[in-house]
Amino acid sequence: MKVLVVGGGGREHAILTALARSPRKPELYCAPGNGGIAALATCVPIAAEDVQAIADYAATAGMDFVVVAPDMPLCLGLCDLLRARGIPAFGPSGAAARIEGSKVFAKELMLRYGIPTGASAVFTDMAQALAYVRTAPMPTVVKADGLAYGKGVVICQTREAAEAAVREMMEQGVFGESGRRILIEEFLTGPEVSVLAFTDGQTLAPMPSGMDHKRALDGDHGLNTGGMGVIAPNPCYPPELAAQCMESIFLPTLYAMAAEGCPFAGCLYVGLMLTPSGPKVIEYNCRFGDPEAQAVLPLLESDLLSILLHVSQGTLHQADVRFSGGASCCVVLASGGYPGAFAKGMPIQGTADAAAMDGVQVFHAGTALDASGALVTSGGRVLGVTAVRGTLQAAVDAAYAAADHISFAGMHLRRDIGARALAAQSC
Ligand code: AMP
Ligand code: GLY
Repeated sequence: MKVLVVGGGGREHAILTALARSPRKPELYCAPGNGGIAALATCVPIAAEDVQAIADYAATAGMDFVVVAPDMPLCLGLCDLLRARGIPAFGPSGAAARIEGSKVFAKELMLRYGIPTGASAVFTDMAQALAYVRTAPMPTVVKADGLAYGKGVVICQTREAAEAAVREMMEQGVFGESGRRILIEEFLTGPEVSVLAFTDGQTLAPMPSGMDHKRALDGDHGLNTGGMGVIAPNPCYPPELAAQCMESIFLPTLYAMAAEGCPFAGCLYVGLMLTPSGPKVIEYNCRFGDPEAQAVLPLLESDLLSILLHVSQGTLHQADVRFSGGASCCVVLASGGYPGAFAKGMPIQGTADAAAMDGVQVFHAGTALDASGALVTSGGRVLGVTAVRGTLQAAVDAAYAAADHISFAGMHLRRDIGARALAAQSC
């Protein structure tokens, strides 16, 4: 069976690593892939956003199944293009991907179907947005409607900051069309939980919950990043709360999407904030999180390929979805300067020593092979080092022990991934 994974980061490496374990022994391809993925799959140099070229390639190369991982091709309707050509695909339709692609769509959906979320107002007119900001309580949160590479959410402590964020999005167009329509949302507080779930639109099978660490520096300081590390499961999200969220959030979301005529099948990612007045949705994503997938998929004991096929066939209720009862920790090794400017092409040492440790996997995000075949850095987030152990403390210790084998010029990592979770007696 020929399986193509679309994307080229740590998440895709984690997906491919799980697919490679499948008893079905799939022949793996990845577009575009990266320096580490090349060891598992044939890398095809087509950008993930070039959806027409990917669909053409999948058809001519005779792919039996395509897994679309990143947000952009999903929102551009790659799964629709593939299905129109008779190629089974894992991922939501373009219409269903709006749950991530338009924050206004997601917010209106939640309001219409009584799904708990923060209060907000939508603006297409800048003067009205600025007038609103002048009387809104601070802090407040300004969000670009569309995809903005994870940078479209600005938490504003002061009116001046909020006005500047509104102007940047609506007047200066820093996020292009994505920011011409904005949402201004109430500031919520509480522990955050990321929940990823397989769903075929009817059945929903949640994966172990995660806690992301979005800021660049220890103690949650510095700029927001794509994520500097994840632990799973999240101790702030015990089974009773998970059961409550299933009833009040996940199943109503599936129902709502079906009722709106765009049933969601794929990986639904729900970002929750556990506020003093109960869990509220702060974001939906239409895909596996990155680095969440790098922490959660190593806990999967059953066959990922079989689960993804069941999702695409609408038979998830028949799938064997089993996770280990252990814990995992993924520590991201980034290029110095990330999420700002950073150098590329730095030789990387020590990945084999790290990966040789029991229960450790080294996922490649921004890596490439240079002309001599040596592994070098090629992105902001370079590697994700994941350790699976029986307890969270052991997983954190092992992930750092493995990360300490690896080095490259300018390497930056947070030293406190999991520290907050370990300190949390109760959340
Ligand atoms: P996103 O880019 O949608 O992943 O959001 C980035 C981060 O912004 C989230 O992980 C939260 O930490 C924060 N955030 C988003 N919405 C709110 C809100 N209403 N109140 C407080 N923090 C928020
Ligand atoms: N780690 C956050 C995301 O994938 O959106």
